[in-house]
Amino acid sequence: MSVRRLAEDQFQPAAFAFNDENAVWADKTIQKYPAGRQQSAVIPLLMRAQEQDGWVTRAAIEKVADMLDMAYIRVLEVATFYTQFQLGPVGTRAHVQVCGTTPCMLRGSEKLMGVCRSKIHQHPFERNAEGTLSWEEVECLGACVNAPMIMIGKDTYEDLTPERLEEIIDTFNAGNGASVKPGPQIDRHFSSPEGGPTSLLTEEPKAKAKTSAKKADADAVSVPPSEAARPKSTDAETNAALKTPVTAPKAAAKNAAAEAAPAANEKPAKAAAAPIAAKPSLEDKNRPAGIAKPAAPDDLKLISGVGPKIEAILNELGIFTFAQVGAWKKAEREWVDGYLNFKGRIERDDWVKQAKALAKGGEAEYIKVFGKKPR
Ligand code: FES
Repeated sequence: MSVRRLAEDQFQPAAFAFNDENAVWADKTIQKYPAGRQQSAVIPLLMRAQEQDGWVTRAAIEKVADMLDMAYIRVLEVATFYTQFQLGPVGTRAHVQVCGTTPCMLRGSEKLMGVCRSKIHQHPFERNAEGTLSWEEVECLGACVNAPMIMIGKDTYEDLTPERLEEIIDTFNAGNGASVKPGPQIDRHFSSPEGGPTSLLTEEPKAKAKTSAKKADADAVSVPPSEAARPKSTDAETNAALKTPVTAPKAAAKNAAAEAAPAANEKPAKAAAAPIAAKPSLEDKNRPAGIAKPAAPDDLKLISGVGPKIEAILNELGIFTFAQVGAWKKAEREWVDGYLNFKGRIERDDWVKQAKALAKGGEAEYIKVFGKKPR
């Protein structure tokens, strides 16, 4: 571990005080803990001090210690132990933390650090000429599956190329960091495989499906007739299959099990007792009205519960905007829920409330309503 010391005196401000909003928040946070245990609030308070001033100053450490009735050295120990606390001034618009641990290193983190060296400063923890940017190398940030990645503030930016990192740094330096969407920077849904799911698929490519069918015959795997006749899959079904342990012994059974996962290990009689609900008709009067694709359709994936596949299905139904989803009546929601075989997920995730917020004021309104960024 690197040596972590407080910044030189020349950088240290004479005093620290939480602003009004943070002072109220700090008091509430301290009150969460029983009498005599207030020091448990030390990490949240230090983190809030860092969020306010950009880094943890000596004055902030002393202020937090006073507030929690702790010795200065105890708070200093915490601040110098945890690497998420910055002990010196960092860029005012972005401090870029580049993961350099093995998976990210194997996927190109060295090149990302090269971008930081050329665009920010040759050395980590040094600021650029304007004082707006700084960078450092950090250990694994837990998004290895989408390596290489960086973190700025509380957000991660994943699946990066040097070119994309240059764009992100430029955007933050221009003061528009909030416009950069966190997460994967390629067409990947969270941490699912690039290009979409590759296993436990219910829809196989035709050639592969034929082979699987032959194998299934040969292996004489029996699938309850009601399940074999199940309608084509959706994301929800795929997710359900992924969550259900599949223990069918033969390879061919796995393909069948993906179709019939909920019942694969049940006795046929039991499986027959829970028939799959019929998919509602496209001609049903409760089907929400569709529209022609607008020039700039909304990104429906911002609604929690909508991934690329579901968005494509909604688009096929003529659903392209948040306003459309936000206006769905109960019967329409039930129709869509049944069509996607979502088993009530649209209500549980409250698509309508999410869509109304996004239609009203985009991400800013969503954050105001839900207290977090969409997705
Ligand atoms: S190795 Fe980079 S996030 Fe885990």
